[in-house]
Parts: sequence; C-alpha cells; structure tokens
Amino acid sequence: MTRIIAVAGKGGVGKTTVSSLIVQMLARSAQGTILAVDADPNSNLADKLGIIANGSIGEVRNRMVQDPDSVPASMSKHEYMALQMQASLAEDERGIDLMVMGRPQGEGCYCFVNNVLRDSLDRMIPRYAFVLVDNEAGMEHLARKTLPRADILILVSDPSATGIRTAMDLWSMSKDLGMEVGRALLLVNNVRADLPGELLPQVEGLEVHLLPHDDVVEEANLRGQPIAWDSDSPLFQALYSILAPALR
Ligand SMILES: Nc1ncnc2c1ncn2[C@@H]1O[C@H](COP(=O)(O)OP(=O)(O)O)[C@@H](O)[C@H]1O
Ligand SMILES: [Mg+2]
Repeated sequence: MTRIIAVAGKGGVGKTTVSSLIVQMLARSAQGTILAVDADPNSNLADKLGIIANGSIGEVRNRMVQDPDSVPASMSKHEYMALQMQASLAEDERGIDLMVMGRPQGEGCYCFVNNVLRDSLDRMIPRYAFVLVDNEAGMEHLARKTLPRADILILVSDPSATGIRTAMDLWSMSKDLGMEVGRALLLVNNVRADLPGELLPQVEGLEVHLLPHDDVVEEANLRGQPIAWDSDSPLFQALYSILAPALR
C-alpha cells in the first residue's frame, strides 16, 4: 500500500531540503516509483531535486474554472483533470515523478474543481510506493484535505521558539481537522550545537529529533544547485537513521 508522507512547517526552516533528501532516499530504496508533490508556491522542490517541472496543477485548475470551454465536450471534468495531471508530471529516471501544485486558487468557484482534483489524486496515489508532499507554511492542501491521510507527518522547525511554535500549531491543526496521521515527527533542523532539552516540546504521539546543520547543503543552496545524494552528509545520515527503519 502507498505510504503518504506530509512535510510541513514555517517558511525557511528546511522543509524542501528535508523533502528532497527523503525523496532521494526513497528512490534509492527502489520499492517503486515515488510521487514528489511540490505544494509550496514559494519554494522549489524541483530545483532541489534537479528535475525540470512540467507545468502545474494550479494552472489546470484555473483554466477549468476561468475557461470551462477548455474541457473538451467529449470528456468529463474528471477525465480531463486526470489527463492534465498525468501530462503535468515530470518523470525522472531515478524513479521519481514530480507534481507541482502551483499558486493558490484565484477568485471564483473552486469547490467543484477542488473536489475533482482530490478525486483524481486519490486515483493516482495507489500507483506509487510513496507519495511525499512538501507543503507550504499554511498547509492549504492539508486543510482542504486534498490528501486522504498522512502515514507519516513530518513537522520541520529551525532551532527557534517561533519555528517550534508554528510546528506545534500545525500539530494542533492536524488534530482539529481530524487528519488521519500514522507516525508524527518533529524534526528540529539546522542545529549547530546541542539544544537544551527543556526547549523541546514533549507531547504524546510526537517524536522529536534534531537534524544537524550541513555545510554541503548550505553550499548547494548558495550556488543554486540541486542537493545531491551524499551519504557522508551529516544531515542525510541523521535523516536516514530516523526514517529508514520505518520505511522498509
Ligand atoms: N540542515 C541544514 N544545513 C544547512 N542549511 C540548511 C539546512 N536545512 C536547510 N538549510 C538552508 O535553509 C534554507 C531554507 O531551506 P528550505 O528547505 O528552502 O526551507 P523551506 O522549504 O522550509 O522554506 C535554505 O537556504 C537551505 O539551504
Ligand atoms: Mg520549501
């Protein structure tokens, strides 16, 4: 069965960095194709994975709302959406399909088209071994329940009180929304020194781990290069030891 991983947290804390490493880790485990969903219009999972994107779902959604005639008369909206979603995937030879959600919706009546989107995604998910969603700070797609569940919810924070507070707010939100969550993790990222334990939240059902600062990641970011797989990277090693046992 497909395992869905949702990554969320405040802007700039390392969601996309962590997502790109997890996607590459999953692709290497060769259990099947991975669907990587870039659901943050303000960042670029494609760049960090070194994949060239191929249009966005937001564009399809906007076209269907603003120009309903773009849907051929011979096709249902569901068929059209499924076809357009398939066409927008960027397929990478590592066994990664990339889907870009794009900008949030504009003015107009999007309920129907959002339902169509959800149904189409529901039908795509079983084709994949893993689906990883790199969410934007506001978690639009979790709030809208575009995703049926999160087998693993990964809340990312930087080592700051606001980052951790945002992560805890998202944790509460997932509870309030009645989101179906399997394992939940808080990853405090980009840690340069030991953190006093009392600054870390202790909440039942939420595992807390630290992820180290990584010079290779910083360098790749400076140069605008993809984050290459590097088994010597301390960040990768930490992520691997946290996640690998659960992903086998
Ligand atoms: N562990 C880390 N070590 C060094 N730099 C990091 C680490 N995690 C994230 N960064 C840097 O922090 C910045 C924000 O990361 P990003 O993944 O884009 O955050 P988000 O997706 O949450 O907005 C980037 O410049 C990235 O290179
Ligand atoms: Mg991001």
